[in-house]
Amino acid sequence: MLDIAFVKPALPRGGALVLPVAEDSGGLGGLAADLDAAAGGALKRALAAAEFKGRKGQSCTIWAPMPDGAAGPSRIVAVGLGKASELSAEAAEAAGGAALPQVRSEREATVAADGMPPELAAAFAMGMALRGYRFHRYRTQEKDEDKPKLERVSLATGSVPDAKAAWAPMRAVAEGVFLARDLVSEPPNVLNPETMADRCRDLEKLGVQVEILGPKEMKKLGMGAMLGVAQGSVNEPRIAVMQWFGASGNGNGKKAKPQGKPVAFIGKGVTFDTGGISIKPAGGMEDMKFDMAGGAAVIGLMAALAGRRAKVDAVGLVGMVENMPSGNAQRPGDVVKTMSGKTVEVINTDAEGRLVLADVMSYCQDRFQPAAMVDLATLTGAIIVALGHEHAGLFSNDDELAARITAAGKGTAEACWRMPLGDAYDKQIRSDIADMKNVGGGRQGGSITAAQFLQRFVGGGGKDKDKGKNGGDGQQHLPWAHLDIAGTAWTTKDLPSVPKGATGFGVRLLDRMVAAHYEG
Ligand code: BES
Ligand code: MN
Ligand code: ZN
Repeated sequence: MLDIAFVKPALPRGGALVLPVAEDSGGLGGLAADLDAAAGGALKRALAAAEFKGRKGQSCTIWAPMPDGAAGPSRIVAVGLGKASELSAEAAEAAGGAALPQVRSEREATVAADGMPPELAAAFAMGMALRGYRFHRYRTQEKDEDKPKLERVSLATGSVPDAKAAWAPMRAVAEGVFLARDLVSEPPNVLNPETMADRCRDLEKLGVQVEILGPKEMKKLGMGAMLGVAQGSVNEPRIAVMQWFGASGNGNGKKAKPQGKPVAFIGKGVTFDTGGISIKPAGGMEDMKFDMAGGAAVIGLMAALAGRRAKVDAVGLVGMVENMPSGNAQRPGDVVKTMSGKTVEVINTDAEGRLVLADVMSYCQDRFQPAAMVDLATLTGAIIVALGHEHAGLFSNDDELAARITAAGKGTAEACWRMPLGDAYDKQIRSDIADMKNVGGGRQGGSITAAQFLQRFVGGGGKDKDKGKNGGDGQQHLPWAHLDIAGTAWTTKDLPSVPKGATGFGVRLLDRMVAAHYEG
């Protein structure tokens, strides 16, 4: 991650100078005006000549702006903030993201953020940090001149303490996003259920309590659906259970006094999805390394919550398996018994994510009786048909929870669009020989029938002994939401705060939702 600092306004002696400019700001002020004066008015003239107006997304680079012999930046990058009256944290972040590629060949950059409130200076820094992400572990032959050189960004602000205070938790969230992106970017021969579980264990350093379940435990718990998916692979499945006691804990995340109901996050962690015996076509199959992006988001989220010492009790569970064809693989037609006791006829072995989530959701409810439960999964190609790459599909049995997630998405550039649930869809997963089948009749509404499948494991998640407990038999309502992130986990084009590749979608969204509603 970029080294981000907040400093008192002063003209930099070298490196890049970034100038965030609002559209109707009426000329340059503060540092920018000082610089313009030092450069003999060259800055204003250059911006006018480039027709730079400060519009959103607009940027303009001025090279070697200083007169001979004068100390100063080697380039100035003006970036548009849009209308001053509409200036928001999202706009500041997007401008920071847009600025980053223009300055990454300099070792240092200074941002003249002295004209904006300190929280927006921090948001601008967030955009630069997030856009500056790179996954380069496996490059060995990159030429020096192609490597980004930017190491340090100093934001000049009128209030250094306020900007620093705003940045500290944002930095922890950015670390969580980076962790999620790293996990998603790893190739599937490196990241398998076991090595992914190791990465979960690393969160212990942050004060997260981590347990890993293996196939033995899963067998004992009756997780036939999870084990059915796993059985075709030589890589054993794992379930990670991560607990952060930020509300009831003693300040370092360790449980101190009895805990109230936690908020629960569940992720699909299919480290590679070949489809199994219902094998996928070869074209684009390599993309299926990102079929663990829901799990990565949960891990990144737990790291973010712990990293910023969030005052919340949260649990994160990730079901990690590899979906492979083999002589021992699950067949279309198999019937498996889930932890809930419900049986599933496996019509298509490529609809494996819902099988994994079903057992992890039951385990979560049985063990934690959560106050709310949100799952994230690259669950269906159908959600991409419906929403493209612009929104994640949001399914929920609870209007309030759905509204909270939607609102959090608007503030974090992780947009969600609510999709319907209903009996007419549920009927489509009835089986002739078992309690349900794992796919609907046809391809239509495929992301909805997948969500219906999951909903069958919300409430009544446990066996008879759990009747009456929250989530035990549907007697008490358990707010649940499912995010289908198949279209948003990966981007093939650069976005303001996301270079192309793994997005880390879900970390910022759910961190924001927790901050707004679940921290006491
Ligand atoms: N992991 C896929 C869904 C997916 C597709 C994610 C494309 C990202 C991009 C999931 O396991 C899957 O294969 N779903 C099937 C379901 C079908 C068999 C009912 C699908 O979407 O085709
Ligand atoms: Mn699949
Ligand atoms: Zn899958």
